[in-house]
Amino acid sequence: METAPTAAAPEVMPDATPGAVTFPATRVDTVFVAHIDVVHGCQLRCVGCPNSILQPKIVPVEPAFFARMLANIDVERIHTLRLFNFGEPLLHRQLSTLVAMIPKQAWTVQEVEISTNAQKVHWDDFERVLAANVVTRLVVSADGDGTPENYERLRPPSKWPKLIEFLERTKALRDRLCPSMQLVCKSVSEVPEHRERWREVLLPRGWTPEFRRWMWLPGAERNMTGRSITTPEGPCFFMAHWSAFQSRDWDGQVTLLYVDADGSIVPCCMHPGAAVLGNLGTMRFNDMLAGKARAAFIEAMRTNRRAMPVCGDCDVGPAGDEGPSFWASIDA
Ligand SMILES: C[S@@+](CC[C@H](N)C(=O)[O-])C[C@H]1O[C@@H](n2cnc3c(N)ncnc32)[C@H](O)[C@@H]1O
Ligand code: SF4
Repeated sequence: METAPTAAAPEVMPDATPGAVTFPATRVDTVFVAHIDVVHGCQLRCVGCPNSILQPKIVPVEPAFFARMLANIDVERIHTLRLFNFGEPLLHRQLSTLVAMIPKQAWTVQEVEISTNAQKVHWDDFERVLAANVVTRLVVSADGDGTPENYERLRPPSKWPKLIEFLERTKALRDRLCPSMQLVCKSVSEVPEHRERWREVLLPRGWTPEFRRWMWLPGAERNMTGRSITTPEGPCFFMAHWSAFQSRDWDGQVTLLYVDADGSIVPCCMHPGAAVLGNLGTMRFNDMLAGKARAAFIEAMRTNRRAMPVCGDCDVGPAGDEGPSFWASIDA
């Protein structure tokens, strides 16, 4: 659900047919956005998230396996590396060990981001994460109307005082250990007065508010969007060939990578397991891109997407016509 930053907003090439999918003729040498879960699962049951129904177990990645996954990203550059997809990264007790591996890779990375629910922190290790100066952007997720009651209702079993403690303690650590790291609080919050209430909580504490709207995430306990969901035909944005984005930045190489903590390469950030396209612990990124599992998944979408268990209940359309949930994630 953390899709490409706004700068990468997709545009279909003038000669591209929306929904058209081809396979890479040659290997790609960049990844625009990679999401790697360092913990499978999350302790919260946020009402709009599929975790509310899936109730995943918490399984942290082994450091040696994480090292193999990083080494198997066979590109030269990554724009944004996010250490989460549907898991809660701060539940990992050795997060600093994982973070320390990032600058040692053959590829370079521009932004390293962590998004957390801010409810459980191993503070000693978290200090080491910050002191490493590898993470460039730390995001706290806090939805609702800006009141403690609404926050706790939407993100059970979160507690408001823990959120406030995290905001204040982390701001002090950031100022001391890694002053250039961005502190952002991202709230699914749609009403202007509610957003204003969040600003009043966040700005005096040194956090930058960002807002988005509700997305429909297939399999979630509640559809918070207020819309009925229509599933488009054919392959979605996440399966588009990078040539569909050639008029955009990054040499048009908008390639995307989503990985669970057990190495499973999944198609997207709308659901933790819409399909398994390979395993990054045992195969290279480029081999997955050109592989049979991904080709078969795209073919299934092309022929009868509505029969697919997750994608048949998802409203993400093709590059150029992505639909309301996709764009809700990158609201102003
Ligand atoms: C699934 S969480 C994983 C990372 C981490 N556990 C966290 O809470 O930030 C990623 C983001 O998805 C957001 N999210 C979950 N359900 C959503 C929905 N239906 N619409 C919009 N955003 C949603 C969360 O608020 C969070 O910011
Ligand atoms: S259609 Fe499937 S792969 Fe595409 S965004 Fe939806 S769940 Fe993910």
